[in-house]
Amino acid sequence: MKTFYITTPIYYVNDVPHIGHAYTTIAADVLARWKRLCGEEVFFLTGTDEHGQNIERIAREKGVSEQVICDTNSLRFRELWKNLSIENDDFIRTTEERHAAGVRVLWDRLKTAKTPAGNPAVFKKKYAGLYCPRCEAFKTEDELNQPGNLCPDHGLPCEMTEEENYFFRLSDYADWFRGVMANKEMTISPESRRNEVMGVVQQGLQDFSISRARVKWGIPIPDDPEHVFYVWVDALSNYITALGFAATGEKRALYERFWEKGADRLHLIGKEIIRFHCLYWPAMLQAAGLPLPTRVFAHGWWTVEGEKMSKTRGNVVDPRAIVEEYGGPGIGVDVLRYFVLREVPFGNDGDFSRKALLNRYNAELANALGNLLNRTLQLLEKNNEGKIPPPSPFSGGTALENYQDAMERLAFGEALESALWYVNEGNLMMDREAPWKTVKTDREAALRTLFKSVTLLKTAAILLSPFMPAVMGELWKQLGERESLETAGSRFLREGVVQFAPGQTVQKGAPLFPRKEVK
Ligand code: MSP
Repeated sequence: MKTFYITTPIYYVNDVPHIGHAYTTIAADVLARWKRLCGEEVFFLTGTDEHGQNIERIAREKGVSEQVICDTNSLRFRELWKNLSIENDDFIRTTEERHAAGVRVLWDRLKTAKTPAGNPAVFKKKYAGLYCPRCEAFKTEDELNQPGNLCPDHGLPCEMTEEENYFFRLSDYADWFRGVMANKEMTISPESRRNEVMGVVQQGLQDFSISRARVKWGIPIPDDPEHVFYVWVDALSNYITALGFAATGEKRALYERFWEKGADRLHLIGKEIIRFHCLYWPAMLQAAGLPLPTRVFAHGWWTVEGEKMSKTRGNVVDPRAIVEEYGGPGIGVDVLRYFVLREVPFGNDGDFSRKALLNRYNAELANALGNLLNRTLQLLEKNNEGKIPPPSPFSGGTALENYQDAMERLAFGEALESALWYVNEGNLMMDREAPWKTVKTDREAALRTLFKSVTLLKTAAILLSPFMPAVMGELWKQLGERESLETAGSRFLREGVVQFAPGQTVQKGAPLFPRKEVK
């Protein structure tokens, strides 16, 4: 059985979850559901990134402990995912002991590791520079190219800071990395992001710091407890610590199955953290003698009604608000899941606008899909006691192949277009063949049309189910299916044909997607 490991970034708990976080998690969930439908063994991981100076500051401001901040905000993410029909297999928190144990094992390997050039991979160095406590990072003079050394992201003055830190000797990894790209041990998508990373390598790789002395809220470095691990060692390692990297015996089974033994290992991320995932993380894994991820995919960023989304602008989109606007749990969730993956080609930046959402909802979900179901079931109930007519063969075109190919490339928009092909085809055919007319003169012909229509609907339901699991489950019921969508869907993907049970009777219900008024 093929194995597939998919991860999202672990989200910082200094922020409340918004549409941007939901985007990555929904995309990962859609892919996980799709791979399960294809019969693969899937492990889907998400979680929260909980250490660092920002949490210390927030805890101080609120007068509570760091752990309380982390517990409260981590739970917000966990609950939102549950409400958005996310079926992750695990949820890792960097404040968990299983994570800290994994980081220590990784450290044990790193501290004695040699770079491809034969130098120690980790070394200690005194470092002085301008430091932004919000970014928790040193800034180069280029980045602070404005009076007062203000951080371009936070607008706060950066402080001259001197610290002795552990460093990772990334500067020794350029040739090795070019080799990894050449032999495709790991791929970076989309192409534009791959080029961006190659550009960084071309400009010269800088060593990066992996510890902090001023921060207490972190995992202490075992042999040097004055230091804690800095964010990128602490955070990136979640992808293996969650699988039981540091465990022994049976508890290590997931690690072996999903990281060591040839699984497809895909990190889904936003474009701003590509350097860490494509350069830092693979180099650390190589130093530790561990396999690399097989794929990194970086998607683009959402703006909101044309503007950058930010707390100060007050335009941060809460996914729960969208869910409520579109009908609450079930339907509202599915509309959100559908829209974010339909509106913008995955990999590009995009704009979240209420108008675009409303238009797509009405045109594609209410008018196209909802309407086809509605009229097909109505005609079957009126003219055939709701029974699915006898099969009549017809060609399904190339939409299925296109869909499969698009999903493999994470081209969710294209995949949805292929799924909608069945729906549009159905509506065109109904308009053309007008079974409500032909039924009066040639009943057989009308039933053939309706058979084709339910077949198209059933196929569309299977292909849309990773995106809209709740509403497609409802459509499925209205088609009178007895088998689960998952079982029938998997068989369809293996055999390529849609079948109905003898005597299967449709069950028309409430409209799937009630039309919404355009104000
Ligand atoms: N904790 C780090 C990641 C460590 S991974 C080992 C982090 N966390 S974060 O909370 O800032 O989340 C960043 C991720 O949220 C992005 O990579 C992206 O997946 C998602 N997004 C946050 N804002 C977004 C948009 N405006 N648009 C799209 N995705 C965005 O970075």
